[in-house]
Amino acid sequence: MTDKSQYDALFSGVIGQDYELLNLICPLATQMSRLVGVAAAEYSAQASDNLTVVELGGGTGITTLSLLTASDKLNILSIDNEPVMQEQAKTHLNKWALEGKLAFCGDDALTALTNIASDSVDMVASAYTLHNFLDTYRKEVIQEIFRILKPGGQFINGDRYGLDDVSQHTRTIQQEVSGYFKVLTRINKLDVLEHWIVHLFSDESENHVMRESVALDQLRDSGFSDITLSHRLEVNALVTATKPGL
Ligand SMILES: C[S@@+](CC[C@H](N)C(=O)[O-])C[C@H]1O[C@@H](n2cnc3c(N)ncnc32)[C@H](O)[C@@H]1O
Repeated sequence: MTDKSQYDALFSGVIGQDYELLNLICPLATQMSRLVGVAAAEYSAQASDNLTVVELGGGTGITTLSLLTASDKLNILSIDNEPVMQEQAKTHLNKWALEGKLAFCGDDALTALTNIASDSVDMVASAYTLHNFLDTYRKEVIQEIFRILKPGGQFINGDRYGLDDVSQHTRTIQQEVSGYFKVLTRINKLDVLEHWIVHLFSDESENHVMRESVALDQLRDSGFSDITLSHRLEVNALVTATKPGL
């Protein structure tokens, strides 16, 4: 689905206020979920059979819904270790769970991936989750993603990929902070503003920030090929990578 107003209407209808608020505060985050769906649709277009998908950090279900509406060939296991978030996704996306298109796992990403067989999954998709990980944990997650993918399988991630030009990155973050103040003071959501600013300090800390070139090298070192970074929007970008072998 490419029309933004249609897409927003569908997502507001299914996800509700969580989608509307995120779209207001950080439209680039919802945009990244949309792009993950677009990439998943492109990948699934070449497949004749159903595809198994592991989603990391499903949250309230925004990225999951983007995947579910991208192609009806996808059978998704959505992993999130925050029960409050995952319970909302279970409510929002119950229809797809009842149809057998969607299952949930409440383990943390690394534990869940470790429990999945090697070479067994067609796609690992995620949005706005890996940047939350400690760098050492993220490295292990990437290695596990590579292990569980079938040869020819694809990793798709729409996320915060820090700019290699650190000064430019800082200026972009400063603009981002200004944007949060403008939007959230206008609608008088100072508690949400506090939460976002506090969280941003974690995102920007040395042991979390997912710098573009480091992240792409990490994928290469884990064995991925056809690594692309596209749709750079401020500090956000879409990354895809393929497990070679087909
Ligand atoms: C910012 S939300 C993104 C949700 C959704 N993908 C989206 O883009 O709207 C990040 C999600 O990742 C989950 N998460 C963070 N660390 C995790 C981990 N180690 N294992 C599993 N889920 C994790 C959080 O609970 C949260 O729901």
